[in-house]
Amino acid sequence: MGSPACDLALFGAMGDLASRKLFPALYHLYRAGLLSEESRILALARRDLSEAEARYQIGQSLEEHLGASAVEASEVEGFLARVSYLRLDFADGMGYQQLGDWHHQGPGTNTLVLYYATPPALYDQITGHLRDAGCCDERTRVVVEKPIGQDLSSSRELNDQLAGVFREENIYRIDHYLGKETVQNLIALRFANNLFASQWDQNHISHVEITVAESVGVDGRWSYFNSAGQLRDMVQSHLLQLLCLLAMDPPSDLSPDSIRDEKVKVLKALSPLTPERISTHLVRGQYTAGTAEGVPVPGYLEEEDAEGPSHTETFIALKVEIENWRWAGVPFYIRTGKRLPEKRSEVIVHFKPAPHYIFDPDQKHLANNKLIIRLQPDEGMALQILTKDQGLSRGMRLRQGPLELTFAEAFETDRIPDAYERLLLEVMKGNQYLFVRRDEVEYAWRWVDQLLANCEECGAHPKRYAAGTWGPVASIAMITRDGRSWYEDA
Ligand SMILES: NC(=O)c1ccc[n+]([C@@H]2O[C@H](COP(=O)([O-])OP(=O)(O)OC[C@H]3O[C@@H](n4cnc5c(N)ncnc54)[C@H](OP(=O)(O)O)[C@@H]3O)[C@@H](O)[C@H]2O)c1
Repeated sequence: MGSPACDLALFGAMGDLASRKLFPALYHLYRAGLLSEESRILALARRDLSEAEARYQIGQSLEEHLGASAVEASEVEGFLARVSYLRLDFADGMGYQQLGDWHHQGPGTNTLVLYYATPPALYDQITGHLRDAGCCDERTRVVVEKPIGQDLSSSRELNDQLAGVFREENIYRIDHYLGKETVQNLIALRFANNLFASQWDQNHISHVEITVAESVGVDGRWSYFNSAGQLRDMVQSHLLQLLCLLAMDPPSDLSPDSIRDEKVKVLKALSPLTPERISTHLVRGQYTAGTAEGVPVPGYLEEEDAEGPSHTETFIALKVEIENWRWAGVPFYIRTGKRLPEKRSEVIVHFKPAPHYIFDPDQKHLANNKLIIRLQPDEGMALQILTKDQGLSRGMRLRQGPLELTFAEAFETDRIPDAYERLLLEVMKGNQYLFVRRDEVEYAWRWVDQLLANCEECGAHPKRYAAGTWGPVASIAMITRDGRSWYEDA
């Protein structure tokens, strides 16, 4: 289903996010006929460009990021005809009126959608200038990117600023993980299949692993990263969102608030990592020189733009517990890091073994089913089940093998839509179920803040790990103490 007509004003239209993700996503929506004929796009940036020059640059970046073979000249032309350009210094109130004029000169029925693809430090000024120029009404939607603050108090401040102008039902806080096909599929998998729904608790699941691994380092953004670290940058948003979708109770329907109410309950039930638990439940790491894809790479403190010593973690592993009936005694081991051996995001749900084991004692370690949910690189799912090994000589030897569902193959599609395509489509439709509500952000920060404070109190500084390895050995020790291992070590 296509989207209702919108006027999309894109702040930061020449920035990295807009070039790499937003324009390619909009182009794909246009190509797929999902962008309403009346929808218009206003690219806002401070560069001195004519409309033709801006369109040319956007066209070039589509080619750069999608590949020349994926863009069709006539379609690019048709798409760019929807794009206007307005030069604007976002910090300066002058010029906002022109945005209002652009919107009012349109069909009149289009919903105005404001997308802040800018540094978050500008959000407040942009919001204030938009309000002063009379650009917003009760229908105007605003899309903001993570990070929503650096801690609970700054996130509240930012949310208050937005709430001063926009209604909560018109604020779309992006966590792009929520737009991924597999993440959405978690909802279908859990709540459309009674097979899983009836097994999804502490009676049947022993533990869960969530890994979000990157092989890149800080990618020229040392200063930005150094002020955040993995806990603020990744755990507070993507990993806690994944955890919520895995652990939440069934919502009563698919409405945004039903889903988000259940996610909030999980966040409220997260067991605090008190100072006594820090040494057993948390490992922070920082990479030293090593290799990435066979090439020598510098350590975090030797990166080109690094400035002095730092206790910022580039790796974190956590044992998270959820204090409710469903999950009592089921740890969620979560980890994320930079300069790990590969780019891989996956969830492994480990089911408990059958109550009484009757096969070869040597194979007992195989006897638990695992559900593997891959987010990247190749989105899909696999259920590890046990069957009898084939052949006359094998007796009742067991064999573990996957029931495999690779989306691209199973659904005979040559491409899975990028998360931003779905997210932009849902914003235009006015559906908030893939966006993060204010209380979700704030409960997540509350948990992360106490964790950071307790790390500080305990002096839990990052341990070293060589680039190209799976983090500090202490991360392996953390899970081994519980008689388990990370999936790649099993
Ligand atoms: N890039 C990603 O993959 C990614 C992923 C997740 C979240 N985000 C979030 O998305 C937002 C944008 O990120 P980004 O990577 O695209 O940042 P970026 O490359 O720095 O882009 C920001 C854009 O804002 C423009 N800008 C800054 N100050 C301005 C001003 N006073 N007036 C007019 N334009 C101004 C910059 O213009 P100039 O080019 O003229 O300097 C730049 O084009 C941030 O909140 C970031 O945290 C980004």
